[in-house]
Amino acid sequence: MTERTSIHGQWSNRLMFVLAATGSAVGLGNIWKFPYITGENGGGAFVVVYLACIAIVGVPIMMAEVMIGRRGRQSPINTMRTLARDEKAGRAWVLLGWGGVLAGFFILSYYSVIAGWALSYVFRTAAGMFNGVTADGVQSIFTELVSDPERLLAWHTLFMVMCMVVVARGVRHGLEKAVRILMPALFVLLLLLLGYAYNTGAFDQGLDFLFTPDFSKVFYKCKILSGVESCRFDGGPMLVAMGHAFFTLSLGMGAIMVYGSYMPKGSSITVSATMIAVLDTAVALIAGMAIFPIVFANGLEPAAGPGLIFQTLPIAFGAMPGGHIFGTIFFTLLVFAAWTSGISLIEPAVAWLVENKSMTRVRASIWVGMSVWLLGLGSIFSFNIWSGEGYQLFGKTFFDLLDYLTANIMLPMGGLLIAIFAGWSMTRESSVDEFNMSFSLFYLIWRVLIRYITPVAVVIVFLNAIGVVDWLLSKNLLW
Ligand code: PFF
Repeated sequence: MTERTSIHGQWSNRLMFVLAATGSAVGLGNIWKFPYITGENGGGAFVVVYLACIAIVGVPIMMAEVMIGRRGRQSPINTMRTLARDEKAGRAWVLLGWGGVLAGFFILSYYSVIAGWALSYVFRTAAGMFNGVTADGVQSIFTELVSDPERLLAWHTLFMVMCMVVVARGVRHGLEKAVRILMPALFVLLLLLLGYAYNTGAFDQGLDFLFTPDFSKVFYKCKILSGVESCRFDGGPMLVAMGHAFFTLSLGMGAIMVYGSYMPKGSSITVSATMIAVLDTAVALIAGMAIFPIVFANGLEPAAGPGLIFQTLPIAFGAMPGGHIFGTIFFTLLVFAAWTSGISLIEPAVAWLVENKSMTRVRASIWVGMSVWLLGLGSIFSFNIWSGEGYQLFGKTFFDLLDYLTANIMLPMGGLLIAIFAGWSMTRESSVDEFNMSFSLFYLIWRVLIRYITPVAVVIVFLNAIGVVDWLLSKNLLW
């Protein structure tokens, strides 16, 4: 096959792809979401499932997504159209690209609201608002912020503008440079927080919560029915863990695919994907190890929900010498981590508008950014004027619904289809050619994973969550 080139340009070198994709992967998902969903889902056992999903599902799908992107060298929608034609697969594969664009819109709309919280905390910490603050004090500062829709709107708007500016300028200018310095700086600051957590006196308790799995507590729901305890398997937390593996690695919606389409030909997909997954997981685990000791040392609730880091970390910054400086730097870096993820969420849509509607990048970014901004209003209101039960569906607010729908359904579905396309629709010759690795052992392992293990794992977790496995077990139909 003749080598395609992307009309949007290419990363300047091999390392830049890894940095940019790591920039996409490392974000609020690692530092904000991972700790709070781990807290809500009981800790250790949840972490074990999450790590297993990263290895069995995440890494093979990341390799597949990069491979597909680099072969198609266009926006995910057009890449899927072109490759489906090349491989003589059905035309419906283009829907995978569209689904990804939609998921990106949905995710960024609430992601930007949370990034707005982080933005506001930069200024609050800098102003010394948290100096010597108590746990109660931090909680009321947080509540006051989220119950004010106007303030949330201002920060959400600012964050969306930041994303639009970078995407409009093209990924190579500015972004590449920023990622190079900011990602290592974030890592160092997290280590510093870890050092603080080590000295809180509750470090062991934090580690215990995070790394000692108690499967019976997390995956079984027990009820007392007329004096007798009856327990049943609950697949919900497992789906959340798998969904988070997709979310944290930016998989299943074309973000990694579009970044892969700007990857130079010679780079190794296997090495890059493994590096990205390891770095991403390390950041999440360090964040967890830094946050839970602070939670326990201050008598806070690990299941506090989305406000968890905003109600715990300021206590640490308020108590340590020079804390308001470190705090300011920390929240700034968190904003940058969110920024480098946010842009990857709209890049697929922008690239498509440029390719198909002959728009300039600037116009395309404005259109996409404005639509996402509008949708974000729903998430803003979820924390205040729409927080009541009258505005909920299945007991979830608009924000909760979007989060659940994208992370736990759309991304795993997208990932499953990517695995099927890469493993079954593409010929062996095509994937071998794109991986550039002939019939090596690595290729063989990947191929077995992507054809059999990964899709089956995703399907089992889905069936689990809707209770099918429990039902089969109860009817003695499984073994
Ligand atoms: N991976 C990002 C995070 O963990 O914060 C979020 C994300 C970015 C999800 C890009 C999906 C995506 F396509």
